[in-house]
Amino acid sequence: MPKKPAVPHTDPTGLKKNLTSYGDNEFSLFLRKAFIKGAGYTDAALDRPVIGIANTGSAYNPCHGNMAQLMEAVKRGIMLAGGLPMDFPTISIHESFSFPTSMYLRNLMAMDTEEMIRAQPMDAVVLIGGCDKTVPAQLMGAASAGIPAIELITGSMLTGSHRSERVGACTDCRRYWGKYRAQEIDDQEISDVNQQLVASVGTCSVMGTASTMACIAEALGMTIPGGATPPAVTADRMRIAELTGAQAVRMAKEHLTIDKILTADAFENAMRVLLAIGGSTNGIVHLAAIAGRVGLDIDLKALDRMGRETPVLLDLKPSGQHYMEDFHKAGGMATLLRQLRPLLKLNALTVTGRTLGEEIELAGPGFAQEVVKSIGSPIYPQGGIAVLYGNLAPGGAIIKQSAAHPDLMEHEGRAVVFENAADLAARIDTDDLDVNKDDVLVLKNIGPKGAPGMPEAGYIPIPRKLAVQGVKDIVRISDGRMSGTAFGTIVLHVTPESAIGGPLAHVKNGDRIRLSVKDREISLLVPKAELKKRALENPAVPPTAERGYQKLFLDTVTQADKGVDFDFMRAAQTKGSTPR
Ligand code: FES
Ligand code: MG
Repeated sequence: MPKKPAVPHTDPTGLKKNLTSYGDNEFSLFLRKAFIKGAGYTDAALDRPVIGIANTGSAYNPCHGNMAQLMEAVKRGIMLAGGLPMDFPTISIHESFSFPTSMYLRNLMAMDTEEMIRAQPMDAVVLIGGCDKTVPAQLMGAASAGIPAIELITGSMLTGSHRSERVGACTDCRRYWGKYRAQEIDDQEISDVNQQLVASVGTCSVMGTASTMACIAEALGMTIPGGATPPAVTADRMRIAELTGAQAVRMAKEHLTIDKILTADAFENAMRVLLAIGGSTNGIVHLAAIAGRVGLDIDLKALDRMGRETPVLLDLKPSGQHYMEDFHKAGGMATLLRQLRPLLKLNALTVTGRTLGEEIELAGPGFAQEVVKSIGSPIYPQGGIAVLYGNLAPGGAIIKQSAAHPDLMEHEGRAVVFENAADLAARIDTDDLDVNKDDVLVLKNIGPKGAPGMPEAGYIPIPRKLAVQGVKDIVRISDGRMSGTAFGTIVLHVTPESAIGGPLAHVKNGDRIRLSVKDREISLLVPKAELKKRALENPAVPPTAERGYQKLFLDTVTQADKGVDFDFMRAAQTKGSTPR
């Protein structure tokens, strides 16, 4: 049973919550009842906990294409447990349909979610999200709103089959596109595979950002146990939805608020899981943003230390070979958490009112399977993400070492510089680009303010002239992000970014750059005095906008280490950093 709150909860609940300001509370309630009866409800439906459901269905979001079925199952769960379900729309963000980049809109979705939770009477909220930015946006918003909240993941898509090879978005999207760029496959084949990469509704089927955030949500204690992995179109997913609705009612009755779940320990568990699943590099940005909403900083140096003792156990693409549905069949997160048990903070509370340790116990002993490896024989000996420092990234940079090429992780090379994404697009495939396989590609101005929104352009394509020679990887550096489904020796999130005058801004063609993942180093081998001179000659002019959301974004967005959230959205009170 959930722990009882220390102070009894006496605020108005149900439809009496947050009465509007007509100056007459009885009249406000009278109006509410009149309008809801206009929708066909009887009084019997009204005197019970109200559970909001954030509905993120959208024709632009096939990753949420099972929303109608999920909604029905959540409502069934809420009603079975004695609550009144009230769904409401919020923004929905899909990776491929969001211009200029989904990350630019994440904070807007977080604000929408927070304010709709605050505005409308509800005693708890079910957040339904799946596609990359939606789950972090919902957790950020709910963390700030503060009421009991539970996340329901939409679930992964099924895998498809291309000429009898199993394929799924979007590691295979990139792999096939790479083959097409290298002229290894023709127009017919690229068109054929396009039909198979997304075989059903649901989120990307590899360990991209969506799967990463699903696992992180469960590790944080924010989903029903087992809620991360059921594919979108399965009965398991619908049962999780029903259980989620029912649990939301219990959380409302027990006043199990989100601050009791999103603790420093919960974030530490999430960081462990991020490392052990070979999760998306975006996961760390989102974790920093969610933590900021409850007054915590993610300690990147500690993340790196944790990485040295947390091997990658999950054999999923892009670090390994399987897909999300295989992880689900292998027992899902319970199988992984059982392995990680000695490294976890087992006393962290979850939405069930039980601790993570109790949930691992309840999940039973497990069974033989091949997707989650044991700590003794991991997929990769260290955590998926390493944190780099050096004069090129005084505020840190990251590399997904588990998806990088071992031969390039200790590398020194000549910089080939692109000033921004447009410059890259214009020159990367030209025949006269002066580049060879030992060079280091540098892309500037794709950071939080630079692009803006820190697009996933950090996955710089292999220049066509090298691709056709068979070059599959090359060291790449930027202040942007890359998709969790991508792979390569790619340094990301260089902080501070070039648009605000970070050292990356002053790299020139022909400079030498050293990457040492072993030493966690990213260095520009140019004398200090020369860098100072370049900074004076070429002062940064941070981008601005005249009006609107873009102005808000450019004026207030933080750097990657603070989660790319707006500075004023972070919790006013700081509680230090995590892990402790
Ligand atoms: Fe939605 Fe990949 S595009 S999860
Ligand atoms: Mg993605």
